[in-house]
Amino acid sequence: MRHVLVLNGPNLGRLGSREPDVYGSATFDDLAEECRRAGLELGLQVEVRQTDDEAELIGWVHQAADSQTPLVLNPAAFTHYSYALRDALAMRTAPLVEVHLSNPATREEFRHTSVVAGVADGTIAGFGLMSYRLALQAIAGMAGSAGDAAGAGGTAGEGAGAGAGEAAGQPG
Ligand code: DQA
Repeated sequence: MRHVLVLNGPNLGRLGSREPDVYGSATFDDLAEECRRAGLELGLQVEVRQTDDEAELIGWVHQAADSQTPLVLNPAAFTHYSYALRDALAMRTAPLVEVHLSNPATREEFRHTSVVAGVADGTIAGFGLMSYRLALQAIAGMAGSAGDAAGAGGTAGEGAGAGAGEAAGQPG
């Protein structure tokens, strides 16, 4: 089974109690379980990690590049300002899908910029836990071209659910 890493940045370990009106009531353990379940359905062996530490996250991205492991990444607040994370992701050797639980485009101005989006195959935002499921579907769909650092031009189906979400893929 293809190994996929689902990496999560700062404050996502607090899901459940963190701003439930924005992020919902599911805990981080629920998120991890949902990812593993979706992975099994898609024939992917999913490993879920979370850190509040930028250096640790970048270390995991380096490991993924060295082992050609596809990534689903919720960079959390690092999305908006971490050029170091972006530079690490630019070295990737396998597909990368950026995910967000909320839809940053509908929120504060500072969330409208993602410094990560330009090096990802695509971004899925606004569907809660379903954002991760959709991202894993995109990874499974790209699996045939995994290792193609230029990316396969991921496109994700538009979710019918939570209303304000968006899915965007870069043309290959
Ligand atoms: C987030 C959106 C970010 O703006 C925020 O800093 C997060 C979570 C999301 O999943 O909606 O921590 O990435």
